[in-house]
Amino acid sequence: MRRLTDTAAGRFLSPAAREALGYPAPGGWMPPLPPGVVRLSAGYPFPDSVPVADLEAATRSLLAEEGDLPLHYLGSRSMAALPGLLAARMAGRGMPVQGEELLVTSGACQAIDLAARALLGPDDLVAVEAPTYMEALEILRNYTSHAVSYPVDRQGLDVEAMAADLARRRAHGLPLPRVLYTVASFQNPTGTALTAERRRRLLELAADYDFLVLEDDAYGELAFGSPPPTLKSLDRDGRVVYVGSLSKVVAPGLRVGWLAGPGWLMKAAALFKKDLDHPLGWAVTAQYLNAVDLDRRVATLRQRYAERRDWLLAALERHMPDRVSWSRPEGGFFVWVTLPEGYDSQELLAPALACGVAYVPGRHFFLPSEAKAGARHLRLSFSYLPQGDLERGVALLAGCLDSWG
Ligand SMILES: Cc1ncc(COP(=O)(O)O)c(C=O)c1O
Repeated sequence: MRRLTDTAAGRFLSPAAREALGYPAPGGWMPPLPPGVVRLSAGYPFPDSVPVADLEAATRSLLAEEGDLPLHYLGSRSMAALPGLLAARMAGRGMPVQGEELLVTSGACQAIDLAARALLGPDDLVAVEAPTYMEALEILRNYTSHAVSYPVDRQGLDVEAMAADLARRRAHGLPLPRVLYTVASFQNPTGTALTAERRRRLLELAADYDFLVLEDDAYGELAFGSPPPTLKSLDRDGRVVYVGSLSKVVAPGLRVGWLAGPGWLMKAAALFKKDLDHPLGWAVTAQYLNAVDLDRRVATLRQRYAERRDWLLAALERHMPDRVSWSRPEGGFFVWVTLPEGYDSQELLAPALACGVAYVPGRHFFLPSEAKAGARHLRLSFSYLPQGDLERGVALLAGCLDSWG
């Protein structure tokens, strides 16, 4: 028997897999973190925000009521209740949907993946924000290598820049995007939210240029002031396909997200969904949602995250050199930092790790061909670390910038 070496085995990989392994850098977007490093990179909910006791109670009562059923392929009554509970939550936020218009998925990521698979062919053009959520960029790139990006400023996606490019494309007979992927509220990585006026204008553009809007609302409920309306709630033409998630408001490990849009799209997405669902996790989630007041929980989370945002912004004020600037998010998990001209956040990462602090370099939030646009930026997260670590991490980063500059 001849044993395959890793290098020889590589020839079995598809061209897409080979390309994916080399992007954005062999080994992924973050090197392994040395122990003790302050992880300003971690975009996770803070540990004690996860409702362990309530989920334990939900699991116990589920198994007491339904026995082995949630542990089989077919699931149980509770599992079957989950889409209705999620639809009710959408209706409460001005987005009524019918049963066949919602598909429960394994997190928002699977919802984006299924939508992309159902909507994008290899020759189709997809539009994204620059910068945008890196995982979504990787997902979209699995289906098409044709992408166009539009800049994000303090008011979210620059809709007029998009309008100008669309007009140019139409005038020159160039391809128009089929889908725009957007995180309109408290974007990852910049924390910005699209203004009401831009939301309306974007929907006009979608109708005028005949594209769909894939709205990723992972952070939409975590507003520190009044929450902006979702694009889906403003959509009168059926152009918005909505991606929801319980990862930020309950727990990411549950892997509960959903896709909501027209029945024909849900049907197609369901055909591609081959993971056989997650009967136990979804049934526990339904049991949990029936037992708790999620609105009250979300209200508390908003306060807790606003407090954390304030801690990080205060630390930045205290420690950062003059020429460094940053966003002031009104929701979500992230602050987007801009370094002085000539700095490169990717090159700075190894020295920063040596100083004891990690962040995500800006380049990873841009299309590979535009990665340079991220050189002066980095993403910090205030969601995960306690106040002392946020302060310490920013002080370490500032010290590192000083010695670099
Ligand atoms: C914009 C955005 N969408 C989706 C996700 C992932 O959501 P889920 O855990 O539901 O897959 C994240 C997580 O960081 C995110 O930032």
